[in-house]
Amino acid sequence: MNITVIGTGYVGLVTGTCLSDYGNKVTCIDIDKSKIKSLKSGILTIYEPGLEIIFKKNVSNGNLSFANKINHKINESEIIFLALPTPPNEDGSADLKHVLNVAKNLSEIINSYKIIINKSTVPIGTTKKISNIFKKNSKINIDVISNPEFLREGVAVKDFMNPERIIVGTQSKKAIKIVSQLYQPFSKKGTKIYFMNEESAELTKYAANSFLATKISFINEISQICDLTDADIDKVKLGLSSDSRIGKKFLNAGIGYGGSCLPKDVKALISYTNNINYDFKILKSVEKINELQKVHIISKIQNFFNNDINGKHFGIWGLSFKPETDDIREAPSLEIIKNLLELNSEITAYDPVASPSIKKILGNKISYSGGPYEMLDKIDALIICTEWDEFKNINIKKVKTKLKSKTIFDGRNIFDTKLMSINQFKYISIGRKIK
Ligand code: UGA
Repeated sequence: MNITVIGTGYVGLVTGTCLSDYGNKVTCIDIDKSKIKSLKSGILTIYEPGLEIIFKKNVSNGNLSFANKINHKINESEIIFLALPTPPNEDGSADLKHVLNVAKNLSEIINSYKIIINKSTVPIGTTKKISNIFKKNSKINIDVISNPEFLREGVAVKDFMNPERIIVGTQSKKAIKIVSQLYQPFSKKGTKIYFMNEESAELTKYAANSFLATKISFINEISQICDLTDADIDKVKLGLSSDSRIGKKFLNAGIGYGGSCLPKDVKALISYTNNINYDFKILKSVEKINELQKVHIISKIQNFFNNDINGKHFGIWGLSFKPETDDIREAPSLEIIKNLLELNSEITAYDPVASPSIKKILGNKISYSGGPYEMLDKIDALIICTEWDEFKNINIKKVKTKLKSKTIFDGRNIFDTKLMSINQFKYISIGRKIK
């Protein structure tokens, strides 16, 4: 099929590249000239494991191409994906200007039937709103459908290629037929495609991210109870998650959820429900707990140093909001660094890939280390903010020798408490005590 993808962020670039790998002719469009220049010259603009290999393959076989202008071969495409940002407005609601502007521009240039597939996360009713723009500006019959994306950064290619489900919101028989054809390679592999109305599809996306955020905030509150008692979060998680109704995933206590999706979507659903006069009580708490959880580790650090961290030097391992990505949006590390700097401490940070992204924001307010060990002999304590494998598999004996203070605050519970005890570390983690 001939496909255009508008927007080359995480969702757009992964969607376009993966669909081209299934033999579709895909053009990815973005108004950002430097992004397109880079992609055209064969350089990926995001770090995503597994993406580069299929990107290079499909650029060279001609299945994947890039352009700046929205009208570039647009009328040759049967399907147009919208993968545009919906950033939060000040009140938390989703800003739809990019989606609606592109819809208006498209409505003025499209000259034959097309399916517009919206991948962007949008409030309930937006698909119909987009559809109305086409009805108002064009005489051409267009189907606008909702097809939310569930891919996770860091495993986006795997998620796209092997989705657990595909959600399609449309009531058009013609669209159902074409979309079924598009996703046939996935349904052949056993992936279920659920067709529903547009509003249900839109809400499914918000509900999914909000539920995941709820699981995280729930386990983080349980970890707080562990901190106040002799319960141990690892044991509680084990007992809790062996109930298949509860499940094992998304129950890792830590320093809170970050990223571009969970925080944004929780905010947007709270704002949307406020506007329809529904008080989404659980979700409001979920958000509040997450804010508190990000800085809870600061009180642990302050307690440890008897409220005197002025001039103390902290090392940070991990800056990205989670492993396998250079994305630092809403990363708990940022909040922790901000708080520590306000308390006049010095910071040296290391991340396997995200240091350049943090440098753009913090510049020389903090120092950067070329590796995990280099900073250790200079610091009063190490703080772990992201559970990269590089840290999980670290040579603990080397850390023991270099880290003179032997003090570790582990915001992601990556080390076994027994191991820490045997090696005489002062080890403070989340909801666990050293044995
Ligand atoms: C999330 C969803 O998981 C995807 O399904 C969705 O498609 C995506 O948002 C989106 O809307 O585009 P993502 O933001 O990439 O994906 O990251 P997650 O893997 O969900 O992690 C979010 C945050 O939760 C991270 O900061 C992570 O450290 C934290 N987390 C996750 C925990 O603190 N505990 C856990 O047990 C799991």
